[in-house]
Amino acid sequence: MGGALNLSCRGLLASKMYETAKGIVTNLVSLIDEFGHVLNGARAYYTNRSEPPLLSAMVYDIYTRTGDVDFARKSLPALLKEHKFWNSEIHSVIIHDAEGCNRTLSRYYAMWNKPRPESSTIDIETASKLMNDSAKQHLYRELASTAESGWDFSTRWMRNGSDLTTLVTSSIMPVDLNAFILKMELDIAFLANVTGDCTISVHFQEAAQARKQAMNSVFWNAEMGQWLDYWLSNGTTCKGHTWEASNQNRNIFASNFVPLWIELFNSDCTLVEQVMQSLQSSGLIRAVGIATSLTNSGQQWDFPNGWAPLQHMIVEGLARSGSKEARSMAEDIAVRWIRTNYVAYKKSGAMHEKYDVEKCGEFGGGGEYIPQTGFGWSNGVVLAFLEEFGWPQDLKIDCN
Ligand SMILES: *[C@@H]1O[C@H](CO)[C@@H](O)[C@H](O)[C@H]1NC(C)=O
Ligand SMILES: *[C@@H]1O[C@H](CO)[C@@H](O)[C@H](O)[C@H]1NC(C)=O
Ligand SMILES: *[C@@H]1O[C@H](CO)[C@@H](O)[C@H](O)[C@H]1NC(C)=O
Ligand SMILES: *[C@@H]1O[C@H](CO)[C@@H](O)[C@H](O)[C@H]1NC(C)=O
Ligand SMILES: *[C@@H]1O[C@H](CO)[C@@H](O)[C@H](O)[C@H]1NC(C)=O
Ligand SMILES: *[C@@H]1O[C@H](CO)[C@@H](O)[C@H](O)[C@H]1NC(C)=O
Repeated sequence: MGGALNLSCRGLLASKMYETAKGIVTNLVSLIDEFGHVLNGARAYYTNRSEPPLLSAMVYDIYTRTGDVDFARKSLPALLKEHKFWNSEIHSVIIHDAEGCNRTLSRYYAMWNKPRPESSTIDIETASKLMNDSAKQHLYRELASTAESGWDFSTRWMRNGSDLTTLVTSSIMPVDLNAFILKMELDIAFLANVTGDCTISVHFQEAAQARKQAMNSVFWNAEMGQWLDYWLSNGTTCKGHTWEASNQNRNIFASNFVPLWIELFNSDCTLVEQVMQSLQSSGLIRAVGIATSLTNSGQQWDFPNGWAPLQHMIVEGLARSGSKEARSMAEDIAVRWIRTNYVAYKKSGAMHEKYDVEKCGEFGGGGEYIPQTGFGWSNGVVLAFLEEFGWPQDLKIDCN
């Protein structure tokens, strides 16, 4: 929900609907007041799992457009509480890195070990292969934690990409989650500065620097020019994790490029150059957008599906990096994405939650439910791209 609403919020801001955008934030803040995190959905049975933390991005976007200091001040306590949630004992893990430093990063971990209420028949069926209750409870937690990640489901979280019972989401330190928390830290530092809470601001600038270093040390792979998810479970015990190169997941996912969205990374020209080349040759850039992964598993967060938020974060990061070449690559991806959204809309009369990046004008499939239409984040990303680049000069309304 947070991911979807973050981008719906961008669409509202592009449409100058500031009060409606603030209303969304007010609703999410009230969830944090009550539960300590933004729920996976605003329903009673979602109270034990979160959404990817993107509320701070919404508050930041609204503040920078409206200059409403009072709104920033009212939102800040909820952001501090959400930050605590993502750094609580169950969510944070210390990794002893190759230089002998302790690095702290966060993971998805749902406080839930039963079938997901919204998919209980499917979950019970999936778990039926397992031999005993403790293995089933473990799987139920992994299923709920994967829903928490927003990437439900994907080979990214599976030991065996064709067997959902091998999900190990809670034993993976995800690149994108930590990029979101880093952004949260930077946003809090910025907003606290605006409201005159200098101690908080300085504290969060330091937290951001520490997480940036942790991401560089645990996730960054210089040879590949990407940030890679780190798997805790390969031969390490629960207590202290000692970093090993072989625990980086070298499979290519769009999430490996999400740190580009964060200014602390995209302001480094040499880094942007290297990551841009890596993205160019990754195989993810397809005819009409960025693929989620290179594996066609039948899961919806895999090839050939492309999702609006991943297009948005990578395109915006490239576009704002200050490199001319990166901006032109970003615009090229944005134009292809707008075209396929437009053609699909003309054909079907609706916007879609995901698209097939191999086939212009086709929406995506796979996964465990019927594809959804009229999706807020797809609308928001098209509007954000049009705002960033203007109406494409040569926008073709067909695919030829
Ligand atoms: C890292 O943490 C361990 C405890 O997990 C501690 O024994 C060690 O001294 C720490 N190392 C550094 C460099 O802080
Ligand atoms: C859900 O969270 C509540 C509050 O933290 C906790 O008491 C309850 O045991 C959790 N439910 C499950 C199934 O883990
Ligand atoms: C439960 O089954 C798993 C394999 O599915 C096995 O590794 C584990 O030892 C079993 N636990 C008990 C308590 O039998
Ligand atoms: C992966 O899972 C599939 C489906 O359960 C199974 O047929 C296959 O043998 C598994 N592969 C490995 C390497 O365990
Ligand atoms: C805090 O505000 C001052 C004055 O506007 C500015 O120079 C500084 O960069 C700001 N710091 C942060 C973390 O936003
Ligand atoms: C972790 O172990 C699994 C199973 O042994 C292996 O397939 C996978 O490649 C390993 N992951 C990493 C990141 O090394």
